[in-house]
Amino acid sequence: MRHLIDIMDLSVEEIDGLIAKASDIVAHPDAYREKCRYKKLATLFFEPSTRTRLSFEAAMLELGGQVLGFSEASSSSAAKGESVADTAAIVSGYADIIAMRHPKEGAPLVAASRSDVPIINAGDGGHFHPTQTLTDLFTISRELGRFEGLTVGLCGDLKFGRTVHSLIAALSRYAGIRFVLISPEELKVPSYVKNKYIKEKGIPYRQTTSLDDAMSELDVLYMTRVQKERFFNEEDYLRLRDSYILTPEKMTLAKKDMVVLHPLPRVNEITTDVDLDPRAAYFRQAKNGKFIRMALIMKLLEVE
Ligand code: NCD
Repeated sequence: MRHLIDIMDLSVEEIDGLIAKASDIVAHPDAYREKCRYKKLATLFFEPSTRTRLSFEAAMLELGGQVLGFSEASSSSAAKGESVADTAAIVSGYADIIAMRHPKEGAPLVAASRSDVPIINAGDGGHFHPTQTLTDLFTISRELGRFEGLTVGLCGDLKFGRTVHSLIAALSRYAGIRFVLISPEELKVPSYVKNKYIKEKGIPYRQTTSLDDAMSELDVLYMTRVQKERFFNEEDYLRLRDSYILTPEKMTLAKKDMVVLHPLPRVNEITTDVDLDPRAAYFRQAKNGKFIRMALIMKLLEVE
Protein backbone atom coordinates (compact mmCIF):
# COMPACT_ATOMS: atom_id res chain seq x y z
CA MET A 1 0.00 0.00 0.00
CA ARG A 2 1.26 3.47 -0.94
CA HIS A 3 0.65 6.83 0.74
CA LEU A 4 1.46 10.28 -0.66
CA ILE A 5 2.89 12.35 2.16
CA ASP A 6 5.77 14.08 0.39
CA ILE A 7 6.06 14.69 -3.36
CA MET A 8 9.40 12.84 -3.21
CA ASP A 9 7.42 9.66 -2.41
CA LEU A 10 6.81 9.56 -6.18
CA SER A 11 9.62 8.99 -8.68
CA VAL A 12 9.99 11.23 -11.74
CA GLU A 13 8.74 8.31 -13.87
CA GLU A 14 5.65 7.95 -11.68
CA ILE A 15 4.93 11.68 -11.99
CA ASP A 16 5.32 11.41 -15.77
CA GLY A 17 2.84 8.52 -15.65
CA LEU A 18 0.33 10.56 -13.64
CA ILE A 19 0.64 13.47 -16.08
CA ALA A 20 0.09 11.13 -19.02
CA LYS A 21 -2.93 9.60 -17.28
CA ALA A 22 -4.41 13.01 -16.42
CA SER A 23 -4.00 14.08 -20.07
CA ASP A 24 -5.83 10.96 -21.17
CA ILE A 25 -8.63 11.67 -18.69
CA VAL A 26 -9.00 15.18 -20.15
CA ALA A 27 -9.21 13.70 -23.65
CA HIS A 28 -11.48 10.71 -22.84
CA PRO A 29 -13.44 11.44 -19.64
CA ASP A 30 -16.12 8.85 -20.45
CA ALA A 31 -13.58 6.03 -20.26
CA TYR A 32 -13.06 6.76 -16.57
CA ARG A 33 -16.61 7.17 -15.27
CA GLU A 34 -16.80 3.75 -13.61
CA LYS A 35 -13.18 3.26 -12.57
CA CYS A 36 -13.78 3.72 -8.86
CA ARG A 37 -17.32 2.39 -8.58
CA TYR A 38 -18.09 1.24 -5.01
CA LYS A 39 -14.93 2.94 -3.72
CA LYS A 40 -15.08 5.68 -1.09
CA LEU A 41 -12.83 8.68 -0.55
CA ALA A 42 -12.82 10.34 2.88
CA THR A 43 -11.76 13.98 3.03
CA LEU A 44 -10.60 14.90 6.53
CA PHE A 45 -10.03 18.65 6.47
CA PHE A 46 -8.93 20.17 9.77
CA GLU A 47 -8.18 23.46 7.95
CA PRO A 48 -10.16 25.57 5.44
CA SER A 49 -10.06 24.68 1.76
CA THR A 50 -12.04 25.22 -1.43
CA ARG A 51 -10.01 23.92 -4.37
CA THR A 52 -8.21 21.06 -2.74
CA ARG A 53 -11.18 19.48 -0.99
CA LEU A 54 -13.73 20.07 -3.74
CA SER A 55 -11.35 18.95 -6.49
CA PHE A 56 -10.66 15.74 -4.56
CA GLU A 57 -14.39 15.17 -4.15
CA ALA A 58 -15.16 16.02 -7.77
CA ALA A 59 -12.32 13.72 -8.84
CA MET A 60 -13.75 10.76 -6.91
CA LEU A 61 -17.30 11.46 -8.10
CA GLU A 62 -16.16 11.62 -11.72
CA LEU A 63 -14.51 8.23 -11.27
CA GLY A 64 -17.86 6.85 -10.18
CA GLY A 65 -16.88 6.65 -6.50
CA GLN A 66 -18.39 8.22 -3.42
CA VAL A 67 -17.17 10.70 -0.85
CA LEU A 68 -17.58 11.29 2.87
CA GLY A 69 -15.79 13.44 5.40
CA PHE A 70 -15.69 16.74 7.19
CA SER A 71 -14.48 20.20 6.25
CA GLU A 72 -13.66 21.67 9.64
CA ALA A 73 -12.05 20.33 12.77
CA SER A 74 -14.89 21.69 14.91
CA SER A 75 -17.36 19.25 13.34
CA SER A 76 -15.13 16.21 13.94
CA SER A 77 -14.11 14.37 17.10
CA ALA A 78 -10.88 16.39 17.09
CA ALA A 79 -13.04 18.95 18.90
CA LYS A 80 -13.46 16.35 21.69
CA GLY A 81 -9.73 15.75 21.82
CA GLU A 82 -9.34 12.71 19.57
CA SER A 83 -5.81 12.24 18.19
CA VAL A 84 -5.04 12.25 14.47
CA ALA A 85 -3.78 8.68 14.78
CA ASP A 86 -7.08 7.49 16.28
CA THR A 87 -9.15 9.40 13.71
CA ALA A 88 -7.13 7.79 10.90
CA ALA A 89 -7.47 4.31 12.38
CA ILE A 90 -11.25 4.74 12.60
CA VAL A 91 -11.82 6.34 9.19
CA SER A 92 -9.65 3.75 7.43
CA GLY A 93 -12.38 1.31 8.42
CA TYR A 94 -15.00 3.39 6.58
CA ALA A 95 -13.20 4.51 3.40
CA ASP A 96 -10.84 3.09 0.77
CA ILE A 97 -8.61 6.16 0.58
CA ILE A 98 -8.19 9.31 2.71
CA ALA A 99 -7.17 12.88 1.84
CA MET A 100 -6.16 14.81 4.94
CA ARG A 101 -5.35 18.48 5.53
CA HIS A 102 -4.09 19.52 8.94
CA PRO A 103 -2.53 22.65 10.49
CA LYS A 104 0.22 20.59 12.15
CA GLU A 105 3.27 19.62 10.12
CA GLY A 106 3.58 15.84 10.02
CA ALA A 107 -0.05 15.04 10.90
CA PRO A 108 -0.72 13.07 7.66
CA LEU A 109 2.46 11.04 8.29
CA VAL A 110 1.18 10.14 11.75
CA ALA A 111 -2.17 9.24 10.19
CA ALA A 112 -0.40 6.99 7.66
CA SER A 113 1.24 5.05 10.47
CA ARG A 114 -2.19 4.02 11.76
CA SER A 115 -4.21 3.73 8.57
CA ASP A 116 -5.09 0.56 6.68
CA VAL A 117 -5.80 2.57 3.51
CA PRO A 118 -3.73 5.08 1.48
CA ILE A 119 -3.38 8.54 3.03
CA ILE A 120 -2.87 11.58 0.83
CA ASN A 121 -1.37 14.70 2.39
CA ALA A 122 -3.65 17.54 1.25
CA GLY A 123 -1.46 20.13 3.02
CA ASP A 124 0.22 19.92 6.44
CA GLY A 125 0.83 23.27 8.12
CA GLY A 126 3.63 25.27 6.54
CA HIS A 127 5.35 22.08 5.40
CA PHE A 128 4.27 20.29 2.19
CA HIS A 129 1.39 20.07 -0.28
CA PRO A 130 2.23 17.32 -2.78
CA THR A 131 -1.06 17.25 -4.70
CA GLN A 132 -0.84 20.98 -5.38
CA THR A 133 2.61 20.23 -6.81
CA LEU A 134 1.17 17.54 -9.08
CA THR A 135 -1.34 20.17 -10.22
CA ASP A 136 1.47 22.68 -10.80
CA LEU A 137 3.57 20.18 -12.76
CA PHE A 138 0.62 19.08 -14.87
CA THR A 139 -0.08 22.73 -15.64
CA ILE A 140 3.52 23.54 -16.57
CA SER A 141 3.55 20.48 -18.79
CA ARG A 142 0.33 21.54 -20.52
CA GLU A 143 1.34 25.17 -20.89
CA LEU A 144 5.02 24.80 -21.84
CA GLY A 145 5.45 21.12 -22.73
CA ARG A 146 8.65 20.65 -20.73
CA PHE A 147 10.38 21.05 -17.35
CA GLU A 148 13.98 20.91 -18.53
CA GLY A 149 15.87 24.18 -18.71
CA LEU A 150 13.17 26.34 -17.15
CA THR A 151 13.89 29.38 -15.00
CA VAL A 152 11.21 29.34 -12.33
CA GLY A 153 10.52 32.38 -10.16
CA LEU A 154 8.77 31.77 -6.85
CA CYS A 155 7.39 34.95 -5.35
CA GLY A 156 5.79 35.93 -2.06
CA ASP A 157 5.64 33.88 1.12
CA LEU A 158 8.37 31.31 0.51
CA LYS A 159 8.71 30.63 4.23
CA PHE A 160 5.24 29.43 5.17
CA GLY A 161 4.05 28.57 1.64
CA ARG A 162 3.87 24.78 1.65
CA THR A 163 3.11 24.63 -2.07
CA VAL A 164 6.46 26.34 -2.70
CA HIS A 165 8.40 23.78 -0.67
CA SER A 166 6.93 20.79 -2.49
CA LEU A 167 7.32 22.44 -5.90
CA ILE A 168 11.01 23.23 -5.32
CA ALA A 169 11.61 19.61 -4.27
CA ALA A 170 9.82 18.24 -7.33
CA LEU A 171 11.47 20.55 -9.86
CA SER A 172 14.93 19.94 -8.40
CA ARG A 173 14.92 16.57 -10.19
CA TYR A 174 14.75 17.98 -13.74
CA ALA A 175 17.81 18.96 -15.78
CA GLY A 176 18.65 22.61 -16.29
CA ILE A 177 16.20 24.00 -13.72
CA ARG A 178 17.07 27.38 -12.25
CA PHE A 179 15.26 29.12 -9.39
CA VAL A 180 14.76 32.81 -8.67
CA LEU A 181 13.51 33.14 -5.10
CA ILE A 182 11.65 36.43 -4.70
CA SER A 183 10.56 37.34 -1.18
CA PRO A 184 10.95 39.82 1.64
CA GLU A 185 13.87 39.04 4.01
CA GLU A 186 11.44 37.70 6.62
CA LEU A 187 9.75 35.25 4.25
CA LYS A 188 12.69 33.49 2.60
CA VAL A 189 12.65 29.77 1.79
CA PRO A 190 13.42 27.81 4.99
CA SER A 191 16.93 26.36 5.14
CA TYR A 192 15.69 22.74 5.35
CA VAL A 193 14.20 23.16 1.89
CA LYS A 194 16.98 25.29 0.42
CA ASN A 195 19.82 23.07 1.62
CA LYS A 196 18.30 19.75 0.66
CA TYR A 197 16.77 20.57 -2.71
CA ILE A 198 18.79 23.49 -4.05
CA LYS A 199 22.25 23.78 -2.48
CA GLU A 200 23.11 20.09 -2.06
CA LYS A 201 21.98 19.39 -5.60
CA GLY A 202 24.02 22.27 -7.00
CA ILE A 203 21.00 23.86 -8.63
CA PRO A 204 21.60 27.43 -9.81
CA TYR A 205 19.50 30.00 -7.97
CA ARG A 206 19.43 33.55 -6.84
CA GLN A 207 17.51 35.31 -4.11
CA THR A 208 16.11 38.79 -4.51
CA THR A 209 13.56 41.06 -2.94
CA SER A 210 12.64 42.62 -6.30
CA LEU A 211 10.00 41.10 -8.59
CA ASP A 212 10.64 43.77 -11.25
CA ASP A 213 14.30 42.80 -11.53
CA ALA A 214 13.44 39.14 -12.01
CA MET A 215 10.53 39.42 -14.46
CA SER A 216 12.42 39.34 -17.77
CA GLU A 217 14.36 36.13 -17.06
CA LEU A 218 11.44 33.91 -15.98
CA ASP A 219 9.72 31.09 -17.88
CA VAL A 220 7.34 30.47 -14.98
CA LEU A 221 6.26 32.94 -12.31
CA TYR A 222 4.70 31.22 -9.28
CA MET A 223 2.90 33.82 -7.17
CA THR A 224 1.80 33.02 -3.61
CA ARG A 225 -0.38 34.48 -0.89
CA VAL A 226 1.21 35.66 2.36
CA GLN A 227 0.06 32.89 4.72
CA LYS A 228 -1.79 34.95 7.32
CA GLU A 229 -2.78 31.95 9.43
CA ARG A 230 0.87 31.02 10.11
CA PHE A 231 1.91 34.43 11.48
CA PHE A 232 2.43 34.92 15.18
CA ASN A 233 1.43 38.56 15.11
CA GLU A 234 -0.97 40.60 13.02
CA GLU A 235 1.42 43.54 12.68
CA ASP A 236 4.00 41.52 10.74
CA TYR A 237 1.29 40.17 8.48
CA LEU A 238 -0.08 43.63 7.73
CA ARG A 239 3.40 44.93 6.99
CA LEU A 240 4.26 42.06 4.61
CA ARG A 241 1.00 41.14 2.93
CA ASP A 242 1.27 43.54 0.02
CA SER A 243 4.99 43.04 -0.65
CA TYR A 244 4.32 41.95 -4.23
CA ILE A 245 1.42 42.82 -6.49
CA LEU A 246 1.46 41.56 -10.05
CA THR A 247 -0.14 44.07 -12.43
CA PRO A 248 -0.50 44.36 -16.23
CA GLU A 249 2.34 46.93 -16.15
CA LYS A 250 4.68 44.40 -14.54
CA MET A 251 3.58 41.78 -17.08
CA THR A 252 5.01 43.98 -19.86
CA LEU A 253 8.49 43.17 -18.46
CA ALA A 254 7.96 39.41 -18.90
CA LYS A 255 8.67 37.02 -21.77
CA LYS A 256 5.86 36.66 -24.29
CA ASP A 257 5.35 33.01 -23.32
CA MET A 258 5.98 33.21 -19.56
CA VAL A 259 3.36 31.33 -17.52
CA VAL A 260 1.86 32.81 -14.35
CA LEU A 261 0.80 30.26 -11.76
CA HIS A 262 -0.78 30.71 -8.32
CA PRO A 263 -2.12 27.89 -6.13
CA LEU A 264 -4.95 30.25 -5.12
CA PRO A 265 -6.73 31.66 -3.16
CA ARG A 266 -5.41 35.03 -4.25
CA VAL A 267 -5.81 37.98 -1.94
CA ASN A 268 -4.00 41.04 -3.34
CA GLU A 269 -0.97 39.59 -5.04
CA ILE A 270 -2.38 39.56 -8.58
CA THR A 271 -4.73 42.31 -9.75
CA THR A 272 -7.85 40.99 -11.48
CA ASP A 273 -6.98 42.71 -14.76
CA VAL A 274 -4.03 40.33 -15.13
CA ASP A 275 -6.61 37.52 -15.50
CA LEU A 276 -7.23 38.60 -19.10
CA ASP A 277 -3.59 38.09 -20.06
CA PRO A 278 -3.23 34.77 -21.93
CA ARG A 279 -0.15 34.03 -19.81
CA ALA A 280 -2.28 33.97 -16.64
CA ALA A 281 -2.72 30.22 -16.17
CA TYR A 282 -3.99 30.07 -12.57
CA PHE A 283 -7.63 29.34 -13.35
CA ARG A 284 -6.61 26.64 -15.82
CA GLN A 285 -4.28 25.36 -13.10
CA ALA A 286 -7.14 25.05 -10.59
CA LYS A 287 -9.14 23.05 -13.13
CA ASN A 288 -6.18 20.78 -13.89
CA GLY A 289 -6.11 19.86 -10.20
CA LYS A 290 -9.19 17.69 -10.57
CA PHE A 291 -7.76 15.62 -13.41
CA ILE A 292 -4.40 14.96 -11.82
CA ARG A 293 -6.15 13.98 -8.57
CA MET A 294 -8.27 11.51 -10.55
CA ALA A 295 -5.04 9.98 -11.87
CA LEU A 296 -3.57 9.89 -8.35
CA ILE A 297 -6.61 8.26 -6.75
CA MET A 298 -6.56 5.55 -9.43
CA LYS A 299 -2.86 4.94 -8.90
CA LEU A 300 -3.09 4.65 -5.11
CA LEU A 301 -6.15 2.42 -5.35
CA GLU A 302 -4.33 0.34 -7.99
CA VAL A 303 -7.19 0.71 -10.42
CA GLU A 304 -6.37 0.16 -14.08
C1 NCD B 1 -2.72 26.58 -0.96
C2 NCD B 1 -2.60 25.91 0.38
O1 NCD B 1 -3.60 25.49 0.97
O2 NCD B 1 -1.46 25.79 0.82
N1 NCD B 1 -4.03 26.51 -1.48
C3 NCD B 1 -4.39 25.43 -2.21
O3 NCD B 1 -4.35 24.31 -1.77
N2 NCD B 1 -4.73 25.64 -3.49
C4 NCD B 1 -2.18 27.95 -1.00
C5 NCD B 1 -2.72 28.96 -0.03
O4 NCD B 1 -3.59 28.67 0.79
O5 NCD B 1 -2.26 30.10 -0.11
